[in-house]
Amino acid sequence: MKPERHLMTLDEFTFFQTKQFKNATGELSTLLRDIGLACKLINKQVNKAGLADILGAHGQVNVQGEEQMKLDVFANEVLISVLKNSADCAGVASEENDEIIAFDDEHSKQSKYVVMFDPLDGSSNIDVNASIGTIFCIYKRVSELGQTCNLNDFLQKGKNIMASGYVIYGSSTMMVYATRLGVNGFTLEQSIGEFCLSHKDMKCPDDGKIYSINQGNTCKLSEPLQNYLHYCMADDKETQRPYSHRYIGSMVADLHRTLIKGGIFMYPEDCKNSNGKLRLLYECNPMSHIIEMAGGKGTTGRENILDIQPSELHQRVPIYIGSKNMVEKAVSMIY
Ligand code: AHG
Repeated sequence: MKPERHLMTLDEFTFFQTKQFKNATGELSTLLRDIGLACKLINKQVNKAGLADILGAHGQVNVQGEEQMKLDVFANEVLISVLKNSADCAGVASEENDEIIAFDDEHSKQSKYVVMFDPLDGSSNIDVNASIGTIFCIYKRVSELGQTCNLNDFLQKGKNIMASGYVIYGSSTMMVYATRLGVNGFTLEQSIGEFCLSHKDMKCPDDGKIYSINQGNTCKLSEPLQNYLHYCMADDKETQRPYSHRYIGSMVADLHRTLIKGGIFMYPEDCKNSNGKLRLLYECNPMSHIIEMAGGKGTTGRENILDIQPSELHQRVPIYIGSKNMVEKAVSMIY
């Protein structure tokens, strides 16, 4: 009897993509597989968070002065250790660590990629069982092979990203990743423990009907921004307004919806935080890369996110991201 194959695993898919390039070495595919492995381990812990006495603050404070949850620490450690053991990673930078971690064994020194990640984004949602996620991106290092990698390898513009992605721990667990070949989504098939292709060639619709922002911050926003929010709420048959408002408070979940259904997600500057809240290197760059590869747009309002030259690891930027036409309309009204 011939085995019936309806599923294509993440590994099979990345290998298939690699074969399309004559000079590809498969290192990027190996890294994606390793990140997938780390996220499966994180997923296992996330799924039993309510049972395993793993909820709650861990007592440590991260570089942004935020209290870490136990699962953040776990996710961070798993990603670091899996990538340290990876055959193809020269070093990592994590939202949870002050500095980069350069792997100094001989093999890692010869590796040409570095990885940046937010191990568990939206962690304040853990206690209420709402979706959370891991965000990552991969760059080719700019430092010389044979040396340990250095800060310059990480302070690269988003447009240099080789691959980016997220894993959403939601009603199902999915990995979505983007390369210049496009954006594809893989759902974790629990029975075989593999991410399997479920959303091929994802496209972010040019228009949408959902705006996503922490509206509780409205009084801190500039007048043009407040006017834009009123525009979103205004009744207009021609433009099919008012839009619906959805905000989970977990960037991965809000952007996963935006990618599939269209819409705009915003975390703007306000009178207290001139650069907003979200981190360029761990959140805004990878997410903008994914959305742009899917045909959408990510901007600070003044410049494309992917064009920003980072000056520090934990830099924050305002962000407007999602359906191209909605983002352009917002920017034209606000700036
Ligand atoms: P955290 O990981 O500390 O929960 O932060 C989550 C991030 C991002 O995922 C989300 O979009 C945003 O912060 C929510 O911030 P507000 O609570 O200020 O709206």
